[in-house]
Amino acid sequence: MQSQSVIDTLNSRLSIRNYIDRKIEDEMLDTILNSARRSPTSSNMQSYSFIVVRDQKKKRELAKLAGNQKHIETCDTFVAICADTSRLENACNMHGKSLGKGLETTLVATVDASLAGMSLSLAAESYGLGTVMIGGMRNHPDKVAELLCFPKGVYVVFGMCIGWPDNDKKGNKKPRMDETAIIHREQYDTSDMEKKLNEYDNELAEHYRGEGRETPDAAYTAVIANKFNQPRRTHLKGTLEELGFKLD
Ligand SMILES: Cc1cc2nc3c(=O)[nH]c(=O)nc-3n(C[C@H](O)[C@H](O)[C@H](O)COP(=O)(O)O)c2cc1C
Repeated sequence: MQSQSVIDTLNSRLSIRNYIDRKIEDEMLDTILNSARRSPTSSNMQSYSFIVVRDQKKKRELAKLAGNQKHIETCDTFVAICADTSRLENACNMHGKSLGKGLETTLVATVDASLAGMSLSLAAESYGLGTVMIGGMRNHPDKVAELLCFPKGVYVVFGMCIGWPDNDKKGNKKPRMDETAIIHREQYDTSDMEKKLNEYDNELAEHYRGEGRETPDAAYTAVIANKFNQPRRTHLKGTLEELGFKLD
């Protein structure tokens, strides 16, 4: 099957949460997974792992852990994208040493996992598959680790549902804020930021209404202000430390 160009794939992508009942061929899945492994990785550490889940019972468990996100159950393939320092520990032990863990190691593994995860999504989308990333995996990273038998030094950064999209339920691309709010040339430009955010509020509200979704008028800023005015998933520091990561 022919894949789309990267630019076309990026410009047409949107998160897909509804899938048809069609299997992803094993060969295609292997191509996608292995292409993502070509992602850049800090100091060639390759400090991430993909746990590929196609078993329906396991997907159901993962869906529950992510707050009953049904797309985890209905997608063909779910991938847990994990930061993984366990092999680094193996490598150190093979030379009579142990891994010097700190915040940097945790960040490096998390960045490696994120980059590989994005490549995985892009590779899948280039074949016309639909994906959605699942931060809900961080609701209970300890239980995900137990369910998927992680060794010490592995945590799930996010998950990814992959499947053939149900085009009737695809919806429209979610608009992004004005490029000048995101892309700064030569130096950071904070000018007119509130104006840009106001404009985006309106554009996003219009998009949601077009999708038949309820929305406040300030579709971006009010949601951010109401949802993120307190720290979230405050269990994460403790859980990640239990899973073998250092955050200082
Ligand atoms: C790290 C990450 C975690 C996400 N977690 C979830 C999730 O748990 N559930 C979900 O339905 N969408 C999730 N999303 C998808 C975002 O909601 C989506 O990318 C965003 O609203 C922009 O929409 P678009 O991808 O359709 O353009 C996540 C996206 C990212 C990058």
